[in-house]
Amino acid sequence: MYTKQVLDHFRNPRNLGALKNSDAIGQKGNPACGDVMKIYLKVGSRDGDGTAKQEYIQDIRFETLGCAAAIAVSSLLTEAAKGKSLKEAKAITKNRIIEDAGGLPPAKIHCSMLGIDALREAIDNYQQSK
Ligand code: FES
Repeated sequence: MYTKQVLDHFRNPRNLGALKNSDAIGQKGNPACGDVMKIYLKVGSRDGDGTAKQEYIQDIRFETLGCAAAIAVSSLLTEAAKGKSLKEAKAITKNRIIEDAGGLPPAKIHCSMLGIDALREAIDNYQQSK
């Protein structure tokens, strides 16, 4: 069964919907179930270490055509990624998201990768567009 964290994020998804004026979009589908996830990013710039500027995720939103677990973990992922540098956001792992979810049923573990893959693709798209 789903944990209370999963149920909460499924019923009240954070950062849901398209982001106007996004800097990059990433989209991934799961061929096994047909679910699709889209991540929108707004990238900001702030002081990093020393004098170098650091790019970070100023805003992030998602749209999902997917199962309850995919919606919940995408919501958790956007919370984990917001405010992170692009490098930190790209390093967010499936285990971290499953931990934030308080666990997922074994048959739903793959759902946690959809958002992560879409986020990484959005970051790649952003970096390639510069
Ligand atoms: Fe497709 Fe969950 S069953 S992402």
